Amino acid sequence: MRYGDLCDRLFVVLETWILKTNLLVLEGEILGQGAGDFSVFFVLRTTCRISNGGVTKMGNYTLSGGVYFFAGAKRGAIYDTNTGKVYSVNSAAKQIIEGASLDNSYWQQLVGMGLASTNSDNCKVLQALPKHQENLRFVWFEIVSDACNNCCIHCYAKSGPVSRRRCKTTKLTYSQWVSLIDQSVAAGCKRCQLIGGEPFLYRGEQGESVLDLAEHARKVGFEVVEIFTNATLLTPENVARIKELELRVAVSLYSNEPDIHDTITRRRGSYIEAARGLRILKDAGVNTRVELILMRANQDTLLETLSFIKEFGFGETRPDPIRQVGRGSDLDLLPEFPVFAKYGLRLKPDFKTSLLSLARNLRGNPCLNGKIAITDVGVVYPCIFSRSFSVGSVLEDAYLENIIQGDGVQRVWYSSKDAVVVCKDCEFRYCCADCRPLAEARAFGKIGYFEAPYPRCTYNPYTGEWAGGVWKVDSEGGLCYDESVKPILQSVTSGV
Ligand SMILES: C[S@@+](CC[C@H](N)C(=O)[O-])C[C@H]1O[C@@H](n2cnc3c(N)ncnc32)[C@H](O)[C@@H]1O
Ligand code: SF4
Ligand code: SF4
Repeated sequence: MRYGDLCDRLFVVLETWILKTNLLVLEGEILGQGAGDFSVFFVLRTTCRISNGGVTKMGNYTLSGGVYFFAGAKRGAIYDTNTGKVYSVNSAAKQIIEGASLDNSYWQQLVGMGLASTNSDNCKVLQALPKHQENLRFVWFEIVSDACNNCCIHCYAKSGPVSRRRCKTTKLTYSQWVSLIDQSVAAGCKRCQLIGGEPFLYRGEQGESVLDLAEHARKVGFEVVEIFTNATLLTPENVARIKELELRVAVSLYSNEPDIHDTITRRRGSYIEAARGLRILKDAGVNTRVELILMRANQDTLLETLSFIKEFGFGETRPDPIRQVGRGSDLDLLPEFPVFAKYGLRLKPDFKTSLLSLARNLRGNPCLNGKIAITDVGVVYPCIFSRSFSVGSVLEDAYLENIIQGDGVQRVWYSSKDAVVVCKDCEFRYCCADCRPLAEARAFGKIGYFEAPYPRCTYNPYTGEWAGGVWKVDSEGGLCYDESVKPILQSVTSGV
């Protein structure tokens, strides 16, 4: 008999035996690594071996230090903060870990994986959860909110060439920005981004530029200062200064086809200028990442553009579908569903954990905690995309610390996924990130910012199924797991 045939027969025998004995399968190792037949076979074999170990003795067990269990509506998840792995367990395992049923062999399996240990006390699963006090960790300084030399079809900031009327709005002065940078550092912040609009259009009262602000930020202690730019205004001179100041740069590129890029930016010649800017950055050796926002207008050149970026010598770029904010609110701008599904949907679990991230996520949402965005008119938003409500104004209160400690920011930082519809019943809620402004936008005003379900998730915690549908809110506020898209999701996950 061929080795492959032998494996197949063994597989069937084991599968039947497992179904008969209702043995538990711990799936953690296969999650996020592509569950092919081999992986399944591997898990069955593992289970078999441990079971054959003949562990029948009753005993008391506890999860190891740094290992936590969280129940979902149907299944559960073990978070191993020592290794960073997150394991999904089935409903029978969930009952055992919760103490609702006894199965020492399963506990032994956990012991073998370093996830549990024998305990002379009564069986105790729960250990004290880590606690966390949030600090300011990241600031977007949106130094020119509305002004831009491009006028992109999807821009959340609705930026573009500025009219005289809009010019009259009172903007923060250079010294106010300097003070905000200083106050952010004093609050413990080490990372920031200078963004717009187009940040290279920024001019202070004495002609100061974005690089003057960046230099100040580096001088007073920001470890990471990134400028997010359309790259059209880069020159060898300003790039040399970027390099000298050890700044990072993020550049938007929509296509390797000039026409497509220019159609999105709505300005002829913008591609040529952006490509020239990228070349200058590359030649100067500046730490640069290229962002590719995916929409219907550029979906056909997506793969070529990704290759182009790679050949240019910049790191991996993960396409990010547009979010329904500002001019991006038009749903027709979204890529076609199969493309969107491939690049925009969470189709399988690939979660990681750590003691710090768990502590943070128990109290807040990783999308939001520790962050603020400040616009050029002093409005403070929870995030650069969250423009539906402000959490303060530096024109009304010049002390950033007051704003950070105020009800608005604190509510945002300490609103966890326990509040989010669907996620609150999901075992991955403390290791999974989402996007609140996107969730809010797709809930059509029917479910609030903190509660709206995440529209890019295909997991159904009530059935334990991945890629069976997507969560949707209808115009009446009704929630459904839309299974009509299942065939497309399945073809994407199987790589067809
Ligand atoms: C607003 S721009 C500001 C910086 C600079 N002007 C630029 O275009 O790179 C920052 C990034 O946000 C992206 N962006 C704008 N609107 C968006 C939306 N609705 N959804 C997702 N990304 C968006 C842009 O494509 C760009 O990559
Ligand atoms: S996305 Fe950037 S380049 Fe495009 S209009 Fe908005 S600010 Fe300008
Ligand atoms: S988005 Fe919500 S439902 Fe989906 S995996 Fe994350 S926590 Fe679970």
